[in-house]
Amino acid sequence: LRDKYLTAIAAAADEAALEDLRVQAVGKKGEVSLQMRELGKMTAEERQVAGPKLNALKDEINSALAAKKQALGDAALDERLKTEWLDVTLPGHRRRPGTIHPISQVTEEVAAIFADMGFSVAEGPQVESDWYNFDALNIPGHHPARAEMDTFYMHRAEGDERPPHVLRTHTSPVQIRSMQDHGAPIRIIAPGRVYRADYDQTHTPMFHQVEGLAIDKDISMANLKWCLEEFVKAFFEVDDVELRFRASHFPFTEPSAEVDIRCSWEGGTLKIGEGDDWLEILGSGMVHPHVLRSGNIDPDQWQGFAFGVGIDRIAMLKYGIPDLRAFFDSDLRWLRHYGFAN
Ligand code: PHE
Repeated sequence: LRDKYLTAIAAAADEAALEDLRVQAVGKKGEVSLQMRELGKMTAEERQVAGPKLNALKDEINSALAAKKQALGDAALDERLKTEWLDVTLPGHRRRPGTIHPISQVTEEVAAIFADMGFSVAEGPQVESDWYNFDALNIPGHHPARAEMDTFYMHRAEGDERPPHVLRTHTSPVQIRSMQDHGAPIRIIAPGRVYRADYDQTHTPMFHQVEGLAIDKDISMANLKWCLEEFVKAFFEVDDVELRFRASHFPFTEPSAEVDIRCSWEGGTLKIGEGDDWLEILGSGMVHPHVLRSGNIDPDQWQGFAFGVGIDRIAMLKYGIPDLRAFFDSDLRWLRHYGFAN
């Protein structure tokens, strides 16, 4: 019995085989156990001889089982170490993490600069009623500005009586929504997507603006000028700028001004703040009393200024990008070329 089991244990291929042997030998109905049960039928003398022998055999088998189990475990570990090794000296796999799109980045920069001047960020819908996009901003139905804006109109099925909607052509409707939602005083910027049916090197049917609106008692164009100067200096990272306020016309501001910054194009590269050229960057003015009334604000008590900047345009200027359309092609080679992707 001893030889039989010790040989079998030594030859066991795995833990399952070992367990089978344990049951056969020293399990409840194992061969050794059964023999031990026979001790009861023996005489005292016989038992004194056979008892210790059987106990020794049981112990020997148990320790052989334990030793073999340990050996099998070690062998399994050796096997794993052999197959699962890792060469930590190999170069790693290069990952290209995603990056913020330049337009989002510029939008965040603009928001941060105006946040320092106490402006919070407001938002409005991109599908806008034509009342918010036009009428409330003092652009009545017959006004030529409607035609000039190359508006996308939302299709309405015949018999659909809901008011007409458009893809907003500018962020100015957010002026009205902010006035209605919060009342005066107001100090917000409203960045977002706007839409016009136009397409060439500097126009895409979807582009981005940031609206600015400040309403308070005693607001004047001097406040507008200061805010814009601070903005341009911070955004283009220059110590000094010269802004030129050119008289203009917007239905929603009176007086209105388009704002140019002094610049030069020496050797094809743009320099902000010096030179003999002027670059138009935004439209602005004092909020028209009709517009304040659309927003339920009393023009006898409150005044305000507003401005609208093309985000894509100032991004092109800041990063020297000649073609606006490339911003929206999602071409990684282009993004990498300008340092916008990994
Ligand atoms: N909404 C105007 C545009 O899209 C810009 C503007 C905003 C002008 C606010 C004056 C005041 O061209």
